[in-house]
Amino acid sequence: MCGIVAAVTERNITDFLLESIKRLEYRGYDSSGLAIINQKKNIIRIRCIGKVNELSKKVKQKKIFGKIGIAHTRWATHGKVSEENAHPHISSNIVIVHNGIIENSLKLRSFLEKKGYIFHSDTDTEVIAHLLHWEQTKTGKSLIEVIQNSKNRLHGSYSMVIMDAYNSSKLIAVRSGSPLVIGLGQKENFIASDQIALLNITKRLIYLKEGDIAIIHSKNIKIFNKHGFIKKRKEIISNVKYKTIGKGKYKYYMEKEIYEQPSSIRHALHHRIKKDKINFSELGYRAKKIFLNIEHIQIVACGTSYHAAMVSKHWFESLASIPCDVEVASEFSSRKLAVRKKSFFITLSQSGETADTLEALRISKKLGYLGNLTICNMKGSSLVQESDFYLLTKAGIEIGVASTKSFTTQLTVLLMLVAKITKLKQKKSNIEKKIANILTTLPFRIEEILKKNNIIKTISHQLCNKNNILFLGRGDQYPIAMEGALKLKEISYIHAEAYPSGELKHGPLALIDKNIPVIITAPKNSLLEKTKKNIKEISARGGIIYVFSDQEIDLEENMTVIKIPYVEEIIAPILYIIPLQLLAYYIGLRKGKNIDQPRNLAKSVTVE
Ligand code: G6P
Repeated sequence: MCGIVAAVTERNITDFLLESIKRLEYRGYDSSGLAIINQKKNIIRIRCIGKVNELSKKVKQKKIFGKIGIAHTRWATHGKVSEENAHPHISSNIVIVHNGIIENSLKLRSFLEKKGYIFHSDTDTEVIAHLLHWEQTKTGKSLIEVIQNSKNRLHGSYSMVIMDAYNSSKLIAVRSGSPLVIGLGQKENFIASDQIALLNITKRLIYLKEGDIAIIHSKNIKIFNKHGFIKKRKEIISNVKYKTIGKGKYKYYMEKEIYEQPSSIRHALHHRIKKDKINFSELGYRAKKIFLNIEHIQIVACGTSYHAAMVSKHWFESLASIPCDVEVASEFSSRKLAVRKKSFFITLSQSGETADTLEALRISKKLGYLGNLTICNMKGSSLVQESDFYLLTKAGIEIGVASTKSFTTQLTVLLMLVAKITKLKQKKSNIEKKIANILTTLPFRIEEILKKNNIIKTISHQLCNKNNILFLGRGDQYPIAMEGALKLKEISYIHAEAYPSGELKHGPLALIDKNIPVIITAPKNSLLEKTKKNIKEISARGGIIYVFSDQEIDLEENMTVIKIPYVEEIIAPILYIIPLQLLAYYIGLRKGKNIDQPRNLAKSVTVE
């Protein structure tokens, strides 16, 4: 989604802005722009569509100098991808970059047009710029007062950074709907939508809270909370190692992140598994009391996180005997809901900023759930801030748009949570010990599977020119089929669909012919015999079959079986996604696609 970086310093800030905004490229965008206020108090703005490198070339040709500036990468929502629609937007002395959507922008636009404002873009951001300018001119008040007064007129989300050419010693940042983090320097201060943009310059960070407005000077900052009172916000030292953000020996971040999974899972387990016990003391006593009362669990998430939630439904029901429902966040928020008795609400999210998931959490708070918990990868994120409880997945920063290590660490944390709740509710159960022991072996198991990469490269060669691929799975392997299909779509743009194996005969069987490859994950479990029947059905219709299994599949059928090392049934979903991630990656690579930034997608989707 949109990326924001801004700085107020005692030196020329142009290079910093370009380098930092480049670091936000991974989030997905279609155009970018930058503005500085120079020594003559003039606003210099440069924008372009395409990559940040294009912006850099344009900026460098102009040799601009300024000690205060803002930069932005845009992911189009209001108005097409064009230079005019790229941020920053200007209204006379006001310069603004924005992340979010103003829902009543058309009404405000027509109001401002009647006041004589001429619009140069189709964006809702230009509406904010003119509104602030109109208020400032009309009331003669300071910009901060003008912003505070205008908040009621803006409906929607509007995290933004504003500069005023009439008072160019400060930046004003407003957090509404998506995160903003202040970076503290020596006689210079910064603000960005993601700490990654700042880590090469400072590790001292202050995350703004929802509704905060910050006035940022080079030597000091002042923060007002949503009620307009001055607040001190905690300074943290980022523990993200700047070096680990690089690609290392890998060609793409996605490849690096796939191979990082054993170590990410070790981090997720660290301090949480000790001598057969799962330790979630980080949740506190209040969580324990609530867990004892849980009679139903509702999980809400999007994309890859939704697939992890679907796997956990099987665990909650089969191990803890707690009924569990899982729903895509945008659907949860779009209907009248009936809440079960003693239901507990869980969100899953890598970024903690997905607008649909946040909206679902906010709705859930009005519905009488016992409480809520988020399982998230980003500590300062909105979901973490707004949830009663949180568990961090500790996957480390994930840059590839297609989630990989986030998925397996989410599953790891979920399985620990299921075991913990089971043990709380069923005192005699040995499940905590069992899961703790199995999970400690998980990183080694994944290392084993990653060694299969050559076989998967060969298969990717056979599949890369196909137009359609079907993924099948049964039970807790169905979400794995869904996640495998999602990875393939995202990275290779091949149409891929996932079906529960048993549902094949109710429709998709009509698609099967010699041109349709069918990928099946079939670990040894009580469902394997049924899956074998499905294999026969596909084979009888000439489908091309690839089966990932830890068993010899004793069938005469014409198929390719990729042998996976044996794993305990309970962790099979975490293991079986690995070859599917590799398969998507190698197919995308062969097709020459932009693996880390697939077209039209964004890493963190902060609009509904
Ligand atoms: C976007 C990303 C997906 C991700 C989904 C949910 O669509 O491209 O990779 O799975 O958002 O994101 P979250 O951060 O909430 O897990």
